[in-house]
Amino acid sequence: MLRWLEHAHWLFRTAVVDVELGGQQIRAGDGVFPVIASANRDEGVWGNGDQLDLDRDAGVQSLAFGYGPHIAVGAMVARAFLATLLPILVRARAPFRLGGTPERVLGNGVSTPTTVPIAPADEN
Ligand code: HEM
Repeated sequence: MLRWLEHAHWLFRTAVVDVELGGQQIRAGDGVFPVIASANRDEGVWGNGDQLDLDRDAGVQSLAFGYGPHIAVGAMVARAFLATLLPILVRARAPFRLGGTPERVLGNGVSTPTTVPIAPADEN
């Protein structure tokens, strides 16, 4: 879900050693601009990367929280929150449903929801 939602679009790093990456030579000191929104949909890694597939093998870590020493400080909190809350909402048949089309701000570096309308669940 986080991979597919594309919250953060890109990172910025400075290479500290010479490295070859995907056939590109990067020298120590070069600025690097990894577009994680693209990496998170890389067909070579995810197959049908544009599809939301909740049954996908979770063995591959997405870059939704970034990578390395600067990975989102709240990654573990956010993961624990979602892993706890989502199953509860699904199993409990929460008394609400999506009440309209969610909207989000498509920012340069970050996209974030602005509205997620909810409505009472249908009675039955
Ligand atoms: C779904 C929720 C979240 C997503 C998708 C997310 C995503 C990201 C990403 C992509 C980065 C850049 C990481 C990098 O440069 O490698 C980042 C950095 C950061 N995030 Fe989050 N984040 C989330 C939740 C949180 C929460 C809940 C907190 C705080 C409690 C938080 C605090 C931070 C901080 C402080 C940084 C900067 C870390 C640094 O530069 O060393 N994030 N986040």
